[in-house]
Order: sequence, then structure tokens, then C-alpha cells
Amino acid sequence: MLKTIKVKLNAPADRSYSIVIGRGILKNAGKTVKDLGLGNDIFLITDSNVNCLYGKPALLSFRQGGFKTTASCVIKAGEDSKSLDSFIKIQGALYNFDRNGNRQIVIATLGGGVPGDLGGFIAGTYKRGISFIQMPTTLLGFVDCGLGGKTAVNFRDAKNSIGIFWQPRLVYMDIDALKTLPLREIQSGLAETLKYGVISDPALFDYLEFNSDKLLVPDMAVYERVIPICVKIKADITSADERDEKDIRIMLNFGHTAGHAIEAATGYRKYTHGEAISLGMLIAGGISKELGLFRDADLFRLENLIENLGLPVKLSGCKVSSVLEAMKHDKKFKSGVNRFILPVKIGACKVVDNIPEKVIAKAVKSRMV
Ligand code: GLY
Repeated sequence: MLKTIKVKLNAPADRSYSIVIGRGILKNAGKTVKDLGLGNDIFLITDSNVNCLYGKPALLSFRQGGFKTTASCVIKAGEDSKSLDSFIKIQGALYNFDRNGNRQIVIATLGGGVPGDLGGFIAGTYKRGISFIQMPTTLLGFVDCGLGGKTAVNFRDAKNSIGIFWQPRLVYMDIDALKTLPLREIQSGLAETLKYGVISDPALFDYLEFNSDKLLVPDMAVYERVIPICVKIKADITSADERDEKDIRIMLNFGHTAGHAIEAATGYRKYTHGEAISLGMLIAGGISKELGLFRDADLFRLENLIENLGLPVKLSGCKVSSVLEAMKHDKKFKSGVNRFILPVKIGACKVVDNIPEKVIAKAVKSRMV
């Protein structure tokens, strides 16, 4: 199976790119990237965990694919590396690599959200922007952060607060990497996967409900079906609203308002991103139900699927007040007016502003252990 999905970005110039999805295709990455004619030298950015598994095969593939020189920069695995410190260190390594050979560099990121977001930010800022390709290796990367061009680092306690939009020239997904992904990381990605069912694809939601046990195995046949569906939805959304300006891309933020607040209120340690987003989706569902927009039965289905995927449905380790306080820093909130993505049924969400604080507090409280 090899699928190609296109992100169409036509203004101001054609910056469209392909997302190639397949199994066992890492060995062909080098030739595929070389054939794009972007450059002769690869600078690979990855993390220590992914480097042990896929660093060597990736570099070998680039050399066999025709790249003249390759270098790799390995950051420590974990969210702490998504920082300005790492940014400066990598920029230094890139500068040295470039200076020693006057090269035509293409950056390749290999791994999850940390190498992907950080590497994209490096590519978008080095010499005012050079080409980069993304090779996600996590489920979260396959269905969400590996495409779409949002790049960033964290600053102080604010996630993704310094960054730019910088689109990759290719996204290359060897989904066999799921076989080495720890279960908790798979579950984290499943939260973003089911998000697509709620925001736009009821059939996907049904399929996930029916196959929840297989998703945890992980049964690759199920992923061969599910990942391209999610990628297509995200590709269409980001083609329509690249810079999150038209209330279209914002739908991808379903569950993230409360989810990000939960991550902050628990010090980014207790919950994985997907676990926090699961709780955030349930809080958004609770708010929507309270406002009379979402049926009880649909909220029940959402809770059931989250639970069956081994994701949390109850929140602990922080106070309701800390979650509410952290929410106020959400990028969507403007001049004190809150803004949520609320589900109206399985398969559709809408943006709602200015929700009474007591409704939000009630929904958060209802999720506490
Ligand atoms: N992860 C949300 C977005 O790409 O807009």
C-alpha cells in the first residue's frame, strides 16, 4: 500500500506538497526526497529514542538516494528539548555544516512532535527559510503534527508560543514505525485520531468504535485504513485555511482549549498530550451538552470510545481553579472573551464564544475524580 495525498497551497506561490503514506518505505525515502530536486545535502534532526531505531536506516537511505553529504543532529528525547536552547544549538550545528561546504541543505525531521516542530522552526528561520521534509514516526505525527506547517518551540510555561508557519516540501510516513511505538504513545495519538471522527467524519468514529481493541494491538491493517482518512481531513482543512484565519483550521483545536490548560495545570508531566486532549474533548462535550447543543447519548459515545482506547475520562492532580486559570492563556481567547470548539453531533463542531464561566467550571468539575 502506498498512498499519496496532496495539500494544496496556491497563494502567493505554489507551495503544495505531497504526503506519502506507506509501510516499510523508510528505505526509499532518500530517492523520493532527492527526486524533488531541493538540494544535495541532508541535515537530519531527530531525537535520541528515534535515532536508535531509525537514524541509521534514514541516513543510509539518503546516501543511497544520491545526497552528497549527510549530517545528523540528535536532541534528547522529550518535550524539554522543544526549547530556544535546542533551537540555538541546532542552528549552530547547521551553520557549521553549511559553512564547511557551502552546501545546498535540505532539513529532514524524523520523529514525533518535538523534532518535527523544532526542526520545522529551524528550517523556516535559517537563512530566512530553507526546504524541509517531515518524516513522522509517531501516531500523533502521522495524523496531526507531522503536516500542516505549524512549527514552534515552547517558551517558559507556554507551549508553542514562539514559532512560525513554514510548510514542508514533503511529508513521508512509514507507518510501520507504529510497531515500535510504546502503547501509551499510541493511545496519545488515538485521541487526535478520534478527534477527526467528532469534528468531521461520523463513519470514522463508527469504525474506531468497532475496532478499538485492534487499534491497541496495534493491528496494522486497521491503521492502513485510518491514517490516510485522518491525513486527508487535515490536508483538506489546512489547504482551505493554511494560517488558521478562517474558522476552519480552528476545528482541529477541538478538545485543545481545556486539554492544553490541563497539561499546564499538571506541569506537563502527568498526562500525555493525547490524554489531556481526551479530557479536553469531554469537557468541551460537557459544555456543549449544558448549552443544549450536544445530546447526552453522543457525549456517552464519546466517553465510551475514549475509555475503550485506554484514555482517561477523569481528571486528577490539579484543581478546577488551576485549569480555569490556565485556560485564560489560550491563544483563541481575545480580550478576556473565551472561545471554544464545541461538538454539536458526532461528525460536526462549531465555534462558540463567550460561554458563561460557571458553565465551563461545571464541565471541568464534572470530570474531577
Ligand atoms: N494541530 C492543530 C493544527 O495543526 O492546526
